[in-house]
Amino acid sequence: MLILAIESSCDETAVALVRDGREVLTDCISSQIALHRIYGGVVPEIASRKHMEAIYALADEALLKANISRSDIDAIAVTYAPGLIGALLVGVNFAKAVALALDKPLIPVHHIRGHIAANYIAYPDLKPPFLCLVVSGGHTMLVDVKDYTHMEILGGTRDDAAGECFDKVARVLDMPYPGGAALDKAAQNGNENAYIMPHTKLSGNPLDMSFSGLKTAAVNLIHNKRQKGEEINVPDLCASFSKAVSEMLIPRTMQALDQTGYRTLAVAGGVAANSRIRGDLMKECGKRGVRLCLPPLSLCGDNAAMIGSQGYYEYLAGNLADQSLNAYATKTMEGERL
Ligand code: KG4
Ligand code: ZN
Repeated sequence: MLILAIESSCDETAVALVRDGREVLTDCISSQIALHRIYGGVVPEIASRKHMEAIYALADEALLKANISRSDIDAIAVTYAPGLIGALLVGVNFAKAVALALDKPLIPVHHIRGHIAANYIAYPDLKPPFLCLVVSGGHTMLVDVKDYTHMEILGGTRDDAAGECFDKVARVLDMPYPGGAALDKAAQNGNENAYIMPHTKLSGNPLDMSFSGLKTAAVNLIHNKRQKGEEINVPDLCASFSKAVSEMLIPRTMQALDQTGYRTLAVAGGVAANSRIRGDLMKECGKRGVRLCLPPLSLCGDNAAMIGSQGYYEYLAGNLADQSLNAYATKTMEGERL
């Protein structure tokens, strides 16, 4: 089954062609990051307009690159939630128009389910059930992937997402948006024990996390040093901060593995590109003999291939939409139907 997949939830317009959920024929991405960089973050209205400008040509490009004609497409999958509402609406409306014109099924895909499905592309033999650590710009959670379309959130951040914190601290350090990758690079030459970072204690669900205290502590430290005219060792600060983020994520992930008894851990979302987190996960999973699925960097960030993959499984489960499909800025990724 050949799916045309569309993703426009944030600052990347993407169109992919995916066969049977696993084989990516083409994955075209038009990134707006350079445009938003001058504002230090995504400007929603600019994002919507740029999606509108890019999407038609990108879909044509995807067909051309894969040498596929419109009549070969069996279904259209689209990210309908969560994300910037104006950005999502562009993709959803485009997908609805294509589905109507080709008279093919329309498959709504939750963005986070898509991120998880990036693992099915990277690891063709991977099948649920497994545990997934989702660490994206807007989400940080541990998900019990019971089946392709049946998932349960076991725990997650109670405040900021890990990616948001990386970006905020990087911004205060004058790194270009989105700063997570630059902070990661700087951290590689730093001493992780140079700065003391707080470790937030949480009551209640032991798999819950918190990053806002850590973010505020790092930002305050930078401001205080600047006010006093003291020098900040940027690599040391980045390394200490990355270590603290990892120390929030990794023990909870290991606890979730113990709790569920799963022997496979998948990782999803842009922050999965972080070298410290990747290294720590490899070490801990290695010790426990747990299979670790870490998609390549190209599949960690936003892309449409992952939407095409999850779209296939949503189709098999009968989760289809009609022309009344809407977009939603927020929506849980757990099993409910539209
Ligand atoms: O999954 P994604 O594309 O966004 C959402 O769906 O929300 O992830 C983007 C996030 C940004 O916060 C970006 O700074 C972060 O992933 N990121 C990183 C790294 N590469 C990207 N964070 C830490 N280290 C990295 N190497
Ligand atoms: Zn994303």
